[in-house]
Amino acid sequence: MSKPQPKTKKVAAKKDKADKPSAKLVPIYLMGKRYEVPDSLTIQKAFEHAGYQLLRGCGCRGGICGACGTVYRFPNSYRIEVGLACQTVVQPNMYIAQIPFFPANKAVYDLQKLEPVGGTLAALYPEIFKCVGCGTCTRSCPMDIDVLSYISKAIQGDVAAAAEGSFDCVMCGLCAARCPAEEVQYNVAILARRLYARHIVPPATHVHRIVEKIEGQKFGKAFKELKSLGVDDLKKLYKGLETEPDIAGEDWVPKDKTWILGD
Ligand code: SF4
Ligand code: SF4
Ligand code: FES
Repeated sequence: MSKPQPKTKKVAAKKDKADKPSAKLVPIYLMGKRYEVPDSLTIQKAFEHAGYQLLRGCGCRGGICGACGTVYRFPNSYRIEVGLACQTVVQPNMYIAQIPFFPANKAVYDLQKLEPVGGTLAALYPEIFKCVGCGTCTRSCPMDIDVLSYISKAIQGDVAAAAEGSFDCVMCGLCAARCPAEEVQYNVAILARRLYARHIVPPATHVHRIVEKIEGQKFGKAFKELKSLGVDDLKKLYKGLETEPDIAGEDWVPKDKTWILGD
């Protein structure tokens, strides 16, 4: 399973424009009301520019949490478009509505008692077999996930493939909002990933080794020292910490290796 990447190409390309300041105003319609907003803003920032306070449907602001699913449409277009509000830049004459919450079927289960087999997915989400293969879910996904493909793997009973294929899902709900078969793809996917992680992949032995080191008081002395410091000294220490660069290889380690646990 690959390391999660914060943004897909599709999301990054949309956001490029938002990072460039611009004074040009464009008309948009929020909940049916017309506003003029700078054309450099994302939909999320446009809402705030227009005076809305986002209490729901807004989380990380970075394309990760999936809280900001949005639908929009252009005049004289038959197409409903979807995207993440924090990653999609406004365009003239967009008619926009936020989806702060999408009601979804969510099975309740005890993961420890489940078998990591296709029958489990089918028993908890029998509606997967209603899929008509239209591909609307794939076209709706802001993370460029082939949603139809992972649902097909779930139908075939391939838990591992469904888990791998859905790994970048941010649970935005846009696929489910558009699905004519009323699937809740992301809840099927998270069940597949839970089964995969709990029952299929080998236990992460390095984690156990590290927990043992922690329990063996590897950090005992350091914690004592930290607890003896005042707020100002703690702040100074924190600010002086070496941080990982924005772009760093998998093998990056800080220069001070005092607290590196290793294998
Ligand atoms: S939108 Fe629904 S019916 Fe269409 S392919 Fe996706 S899961 Fe199947
Ligand atoms: S699979 Fe569905 S819920 Fe997950 S990111 Fe794509 S559209 Fe959102
Ligand atoms: S606010 Fe988290 S993905 Fe948009």
